Amino acid sequence: MTKILVTGGAGFIGSHTILKLLNEDYDVVTIDNLSNSSYEVINRIKFLANKNFDFIKGDIIDKSILKSIFSKFNIEAVIHFAGLKSSSDSNNNPISYFENNVVGSINLLKEMANFGIKKIVFSSSATVYGEPSTKKCKETFELSPISVYGKTKLLIENILLDIKFAQPEWRIFNLRYFNPIGAHPSGIIGEDPRNVPSNLIPFLTQVAIGKREQLLVFGDTYDTSDGTGKRDYIHVEDLASGHIAALRNLEKAEKNNINVNLGTGQSYSVLEVLRAFEQCSGKNIPYKIVGKRLGDVGELYADTSLAKRILGWEAKFDILQMCNDAWRWQKMNPEGYDKT
Ligand code: NAD
Ligand code: WQD
Repeated sequence: MTKILVTGGAGFIGSHTILKLLNEDYDVVTIDNLSNSSYEVINRIKFLANKNFDFIKGDIIDKSILKSIFSKFNIEAVIHFAGLKSSSDSNNNPISYFENNVVGSINLLKEMANFGIKKIVFSSSATVYGEPSTKKCKETFELSPISVYGKTKLLIENILLDIKFAQPEWRIFNLRYFNPIGAHPSGIIGEDPRNVPSNLIPFLTQVAIGKREQLLVFGDTYDTSDGTGKRDYIHVEDLASGHIAALRNLEKAEKNNINVNLGTGQSYSVLEVLRAFEQCSGKNIPYKIVGKRLGDVGELYADTSLAKRILGWEAKFDILQMCNDAWRWQKMNPEGYDKT
C-alpha cells in the first residue's frame, strides 16, 4: 500500500480527502496541530472508513516532528493542507501567516528532500488570481493576490516551481481550489469553523439552524445578474476526488503541469445560493443587503479544461447537492464536532 503523509488532515478538506484515500486503499499518516480542528474528526474518519490510520498531533513548524515522521513511516508522497486560511485575519497577523504557511512549508519541503520524497500536492487557492480582468480564470493568468493569506499561497507556489526547475524529477501539483463547500453525505464529517464564519455557506447554515439572526449580503451592485457576488462553489467530495486524481497522476513518471484549477466552471450569486439553500433546507433565510466587503471581487470562476485534460477529473455535484449535504451536516452537528 502506498503511504501518504497528509498535513492538516483534521481540517475541512483534509478530513474528506483522508476518507477517500482510505477508501481507495491508500495508507495514511496525518499531522495536525488542531489549531483549527478537533481530534473528534479523526475518530469519525476511522468510523466511516472502518479503517485505522496514524494521527500525529504536531506542528509543521517543528522540524524534529517532521524528521521523526519521515524516519518512522515509508512515505511516498505528501498532500499538504496544513495552513491558516482567513484572508481578513491574515491582514491583521502577517507574521503568523508567513511563519505558519511559508516557513511551515519550507520545513516540510526540506525534510521531504532530506528523505528523498519528491511528490507533493499543495493546497493553493483561487485567491492567487486577485482581481483578474476576466472572470473565467485560466492557470496562465498573471497572479496578484490581495490578502497576506493569498501572498503566502503564491510564495509557496513559487517555491515549488523553483524546486521543480532546479530538480525536474520532483512531481508537484499546486491545486488552486475555488470555493469548497458541502460535507460528506453521511453528515458525519463537515466544515466546523471555530469563530464566527466568514465564508458564505457556514454562515448560511448557522442562520438556518437559528444560531445567527440573518445573513448579511455583502453588496448588490456588482456587475452580475442580480448584483451580488458570484463564485465557483465546489463540493468538498469533488475536491477530495481531485486530490486522488492528482496523486495518481504524480505516480506516473511523466512531466506535469504544476498549476491546476479545481472548480466546477460555473458561478452562482449569493442570492442564488441562498435560494438553493432555502429549497434544500425548507427554511426561510432572512437576509439584509449591506456594503461590499473589502477585497471582494464581483465574479470569479474556474477554467476547468486543464484539470479535465491533465487529471481526467471534473466536478460531479451541483449546487443543490452541495447545499443538501452542508445542511445535513449542520443539522446533525448543530455545535460542530466537540459538542454533538
Ligand atoms: P482547515 O483550517 O479546516 O484545515 C487546515 C488544517 O491545518 C487544520 O486542521 C489546522 O489545525 C491545521 N494546521 C494549520 N496550521 C498547521 C501547522 N502549522 N501544523 C500542523 N497543522 C496545521 O482548512 P481547509 O478549509 O481544510 O483548508 C485546507 C487547505 O486548503 C489550507 O491550506 C487552505 O489554505 C486551502 N484552501 C482552502 C480553501 C477553503 O475555502 N476552505 C480554499 C482554497 C484553499
Ligand atoms: C462568497 C460570496 C461574499 C459571507 C474566500 C477566500 C478565498 C478562499 C475561499 C481560501 C462573496 C459573499 C460571504 C457573508 C456574503 N479560501 N458573502 N455574506 O470570499 O469568495 O473566498 O474563501 O483560499 O481565499 O477569500 O468566499 O464564502 O467568503 O464569499 O454576502 O456573510 O459570498 O461577498 O461574494 P470568497 P466567501
